[in-house]
Amino acid sequence: MEPIDAPVQAPGGTVEVHSYLGPSDERSLADDVLDGLTRPLKELPPKHFYDARGSELFDAICELPEYYQTRTERLILETHADDIVARTGAVELVELGSGSATKTRVLLDAMAAAGTLRRYIPVDVSATTVHAVAELFCDEYDGLSVYGVVGDFERHLSHLPEPVGPRLVPFLGGTIGNFPPGSRRRFLRGLGKMLGPGGHLLLGTDLVKDPHVLEAAYDDSAGVTAQFNLNVLHVVNRELGANFDVDAFEHVAFFDREREWIEMRLRATEPQQVRVEALDLDVAFTAREELRTEISAKFTPDGLGADLAAAGLELVEFYTDPDELFAVSLARVR
Ligand SMILES: C[S@@+](CC[C@H](N)C(=O)[O-])C[C@H]1O[C@@H](n2cnc3c(N)ncnc32)[C@H](O)[C@@H]1O
Repeated sequence: MEPIDAPVQAPGGTVEVHSYLGPSDERSLADDVLDGLTRPLKELPPKHFYDARGSELFDAICELPEYYQTRTERLILETHADDIVARTGAVELVELGSGSATKTRVLLDAMAAAGTLRRYIPVDVSATTVHAVAELFCDEYDGLSVYGVVGDFERHLSHLPEPVGPRLVPFLGGTIGNFPPGSRRRFLRGLGKMLGPGGHLLLGTDLVKDPHVLEAAYDDSAGVTAQFNLNVLHVVNRELGANFDVDAFEHVAFFDREREWIEMRLRATEPQQVRVEALDLDVAFTAREELRTEISAKFTPDGLGADLAAAGLELVEFYTDPDELFAVSLARVR
């Protein structure tokens, strides 16, 4: 698809946003729903949580007391941002799954202080967040060029512009944990190709820990994560003319100790017959049948090193917090 916005000169710098989501992406939801709802264990990929409401709910999750990930990752970045910038000499950030990019400021500030900051490229499926962040950062950082990409980081990274100098690619928030192990390595291998000369990946990963702490982070007492999880049914109802009775599903989150990942599921509280009009599909749920909506892998330093090595990457630095709850890894092509 063609870019939808021409570059605009804003007080701080220039901003342009390019969208690669269009009718074919409605098909991507349709294909995922057709695949996912006809599997023996029903499943939907987590990227479909993030319509405007889903993105708002995710931001609310980041503020929850149980959700230690965001504040811990921010602390790690605050502690080590100057070191990251000094080691990489980065002049541009290409942020994957940027969302509302609240932690990104820490990196942009360090680059601005070092006098290297030139360009910021947020990439996200959520158009509302890419537009909001692009305008905000362009206003806030003098001379910054913002090139927003509304797209799927699994399909649209070939549309990124050439690097303007050493590139740093933050992939924060533990989003890499949404990939199962084989796809994770394939995806990381692909990232190696877009780092460019002297480029680095900055990968945020949640670490294996007490299952009670992990499960509380995905099943908060205020029920925000439950709303976020259920939101995917609203997305399918709206986009594909489905008739899920959302109130007849409940949120489930548990830590699979063998696979070392959190699973989020939606459990039908009673038998339900669902019609997905756009697919001419009828799907039956039995009472207590579950639909898997997310896996979120938790890492050990050794496991992470093995994933990076298998993807042709080498670890440059492994940053963590004093309690070793979360990690931010700096890596480059071997
Ligand atoms: C767990 S949130 C993390 C947001 C932010 N990076 C942070 O650390 O708080 C995942 C983000 O990735 C985006 N996302 C998920 N799947 C995506 C995909 N396939 N392509 C592009 N963005 C995606 C979502 O819209 C959301 O903003």
